Amino acid sequence: MSEPTPTEIIEPVEAIQNDAFVAVSYDDLIPNNVDLSSDKQLQRALEGWQPNYIDWWKDMGPEGFQNADVYLRTAVGVDPSGWAKFGHVKMPDYRWGILLAPKEEGRTIPCGRHKGEPAWQEVPGEYRSLLRRLIVVQGDTEPASVEQQRFLGATAPSLYDMRNLFQVNVEEGRHLWAMVYLLVKYFGRDGREEAQALLERRSGQQDNPRILGAFNERTPDWLSFFMFTYFTDRDGKMQLAALAQSGFDPLSRSCRFMLTEEAHHLFVGETGVGRTIEATCLAMKAAGITDPYAKEAIRKLGVIDLPTLQKKANFHMSVTRDLFGSEISSNAASAFSTGLKGRFNETALDDDHQLENATYPVQRVIDGQLVTEEVPALRAINSRLLDDYIADCQGGIDRWNKVIEKCGIAFRFSQPHKGFNRRIGEFAETHVSPAGELLSAQAWHAGKSDWLCSDEDHTFINSLMKPCVQPGQYASWIAPPRVGINNQPKDFEYVRIEHS
Ligand SMILES: [Fe+2]
Ligand SMILES: [Fe+2]
Repeated sequence: MSEPTPTEIIEPVEAIQNDAFVAVSYDDLIPNNVDLSSDKQLQRALEGWQPNYIDWWKDMGPEGFQNADVYLRTAVGVDPSGWAKFGHVKMPDYRWGILLAPKEEGRTIPCGRHKGEPAWQEVPGEYRSLLRRLIVVQGDTEPASVEQQRFLGATAPSLYDMRNLFQVNVEEGRHLWAMVYLLVKYFGRDGREEAQALLERRSGQQDNPRILGAFNERTPDWLSFFMFTYFTDRDGKMQLAALAQSGFDPLSRSCRFMLTEEAHHLFVGETGVGRTIEATCLAMKAAGITDPYAKEAIRKLGVIDLPTLQKKANFHMSVTRDLFGSEISSNAASAFSTGLKGRFNETALDDDHQLENATYPVQRVIDGQLVTEEVPALRAINSRLLDDYIADCQGGIDRWNKVIEKCGIAFRFSQPHKGFNRRIGEFAETHVSPAGELLSAQAWHAGKSDWLCSDEDHTFINSLMKPCVQPGQYASWIAPPRVGINNQPKDFEYVRIEHS
């Protein structure tokens, strides 16, 4: 068993607090560390779901590469120092398993009105439907992103990137398994029905779409993929981190292990965008261009100009912020006070973890003005998670800016105002510029093409999306990575596509 390279896990994820090694059984049809074979009924139910899952994967997973041998990591344990192994596998043969982080003896419910009581090992009856809904909504995002990304293999800028795409895809598939395990094990018949429905909804489909808006958007090109994995998988990280604080212990343990995998998705996003920026800056330098706004001249070099990258980022940031739901929300208050979902880093926060009398500042639009209002903290749980998310996005953006600075180009990426381009929550009915000014509809439409990609920008980005599949070769618009996956050499054949 080899270890994941330290470069792969750049996020300080405190996903696994207990480092006791729990062996994963690979003898079973479904690899697991939950002693599945001791619960025959559950095992049968999951083995019944498995062929439907594989059918879904073949139908909706990476198009055109189902027979390719892909250098993938597979989780073989939950020990942080050596939980994955690498090897070439055909994706439909990937060993999707059920992995829970080790049980923490004596764990108590960290928040809400049951704070301090022993964590639930069974579903608390009075909160059954709320808990089921939380699991279904989380579960629905996992296959959705695989569906959104299914056509990208054909235009991969390198074998390295293609492999990373497929790695993210199989792990999202495993995340679906993680949620389906909870539904089938703990929710009886309705759990089995929900598990089936998770395979039936389709991203972007009119009559049976995925539950959340951003998961019905298209991921039409690789730049979108990198932005998605940086910004939208980070919403995944925040949601998983909040669910890892759940008083329902099996959900907490599932999410703690999922966070370990999520770190790689964020890495793919951060370095994907970072390498795109690097290619642009290096090409500008070589051509003697210092003005980042010399769009035509820069695009002629076969790279994406920085202002267009900012516009693309603006889109992904704004649609992802919508995923946090209404800033002020009674559902979020219930999820917290029941103890089913905590806040980001709940146990590390210095307060009473019940928030009955606390307030939280929320930015709102009142009488045509942006104001900050103190709102009962319980009702502002979503707002707080969104603020934590925005803060969490900044690290990578600062690292991107360093690349630009090093090349001596006067340009900086920034996050638009929280209210920019929102469809859900406090700003849904208003127009806010990236700088945070409230705008008339007319002013919004006049400025829009400076803030979000136009059709012409998309046409240009698309024109660069040509496959580059010689080992060690990269498309013009993206720089090679510094280190190979699992320290493989530069010309490593991450995907053997000859049979696909
Ligand atoms: Fe996921
Ligand atoms: Fe992810």
